[in-house]
Amino acid sequence: MKLQKDAMDWLDSRLGVRELLYNNLNGYLLPRNINIWYTLGAILMALLGLQFLTGILLLIFYVPDTEKAFASVTMIMNEVPYGWLIRYLHVVASNLIVAFLFLHMFSVLFMGSYKRPRELTWLSGFVLFNMGLVFCLTGYLLPWSQLSFWATTVATDAAGAIPVVGDFLVEFLRGGPSVGAATLGRFFALHVMALPMAFLGLLGFHLFCVRRVGISSAPFGDQYQPTELTRSFTHDEHLDGVPFHPNYTIKEISMVFFALAALVVITFFVPWLFIPPEALVPANPFVTPEHIKPEWYFLWTYQVLKIFPSKLLGLSAQAAVMGLMAILPFLDLGPERRPAKRPIFVTIYLLGIWV
Ligand code: HEM
Repeated sequence: MKLQKDAMDWLDSRLGVRELLYNNLNGYLLPRNINIWYTLGAILMALLGLQFLTGILLLIFYVPDTEKAFASVTMIMNEVPYGWLIRYLHVVASNLIVAFLFLHMFSVLFMGSYKRPRELTWLSGFVLFNMGLVFCLTGYLLPWSQLSFWATTVATDAAGAIPVVGDFLVEFLRGGPSVGAATLGRFFALHVMALPMAFLGLLGFHLFCVRRVGISSAPFGDQYQPTELTRSFTHDEHLDGVPFHPNYTIKEISMVFFALAALVVITFFVPWLFIPPEALVPANPFVTPEHIKPEWYFLWTYQVLKIFPSKLLGLSAQAAVMGLMAILPFLDLGPERRPAKRPIFVTIYLLGIWV
C-alpha cells in the first residue's frame, strides 16, 4: 500500500496523474439516461484486445507459404498445446467483432448520434467498420484451405466488373492473374502489419473524438434535452450526470463479461458455426467446391450482386449505399434525434435492416 502511494506520488509530481485520472474517471460525467447500447464500444475494445493477443500467439507457428500454411494451421490445431483454443478464439472473436460493429453502428444510427457535432466520430467509425471487414477478408485466406482459396477467388473476381480498371484491379489485388503465393504474401502483410497499425491509429482518433465532443445523451424519455448547436466548439457537458467511474465502468465491465461468456460458449460448444467443412480441406485450385458461400457478413453483398442483372450494376448499387452511409451526417442536417419524431428515417432504417 505504502509502495503504491509512493509510486503514485512520484508519478503525480511529474505528470499530474491524479488530476488526469480524476478528470477522466470520477470527474467525467455522462448523461443520466445513458443506456446499454453505449457499452458496445467497450465490448469492441475488449474483443479487439483479445484478438490482437490470439493473433500474435498464432503468428508464432503460422507459416505464410502456400506449401506450408495449411500444414502449419493443422499443427497449431493438433500439436501446439492449447493451439486449438487460441485459433478457435481468434476465429469466433472475429465474427463477434463484426456482429458488435454492426450493432454499434445501428445503435448510433437509431439514436441519431452521428449528427453534428459528431460527424468525425461517425466517419472514423465507418472507416473502422470497413477496415474490420477487410481484416476478415484478408485473414480468411491465411489458412490456405479450399474455403480460403475459393472465397478469395470469388471476392477478388468481383472487382473485374468495374469498367476500364477492373482487370488491372483484380490482378493488383491478387498479385497475378489468379489467387496464389503473391496473394497470400500481400494478404498476410495487410492482415498482420498494415491493417493493425492503421486500425489502431484510427481507433485512437475515434476515441479522441468521443472524449473531446462528449457522449451524447440518449434521445429517449423526459430527461432528454436536445443540445443547442453553436458555431464554435462546445464539449457536450452533463453537469447533472453520473460519474464515468465507478457508476458506468461497472455496467461496461458486466457487459464485457457477457460478451466474453458468449465467446467462450461458442468457442467450446459450436465453433463449427464459423468453420465449415471446406475449411478443413487444403486449397486445390483445380477442384471447385460445390457449395462456396461467403461469410454471413458478406451475404448481403453476394445477394445484391445476384439481384441485379449485371455485376457492374450490383457493385454500383453497393458503392452508392456505402457512399451515402459514409456521408450521412453531412446530408441529414436536422438537429432532431428522437426516433419518434423521425418517422421517415426510422422507416428507411427498419427497411434497410429487414432487406
Ligand atoms: C472497433 C471499432 C470501434 C470501437 C472500439 C469503438 C469505440 C467506441 C466507444 C468506446 C464509444 C463511446 C461509447 C459508446 O457509444 O459505445 C464510441 C462512440 C461512437 N462510435 Fe464507435 N467504435 C468503433 C466503431 C464504430 C463504428 C463502426 C461506428 C459507425 C459507423 C462508430 C460510431 C460511433 C459514434 C457516432 C459514437 C458516438 C456515440 C455518442 O456519443 O453517443 N463507431 N465508439
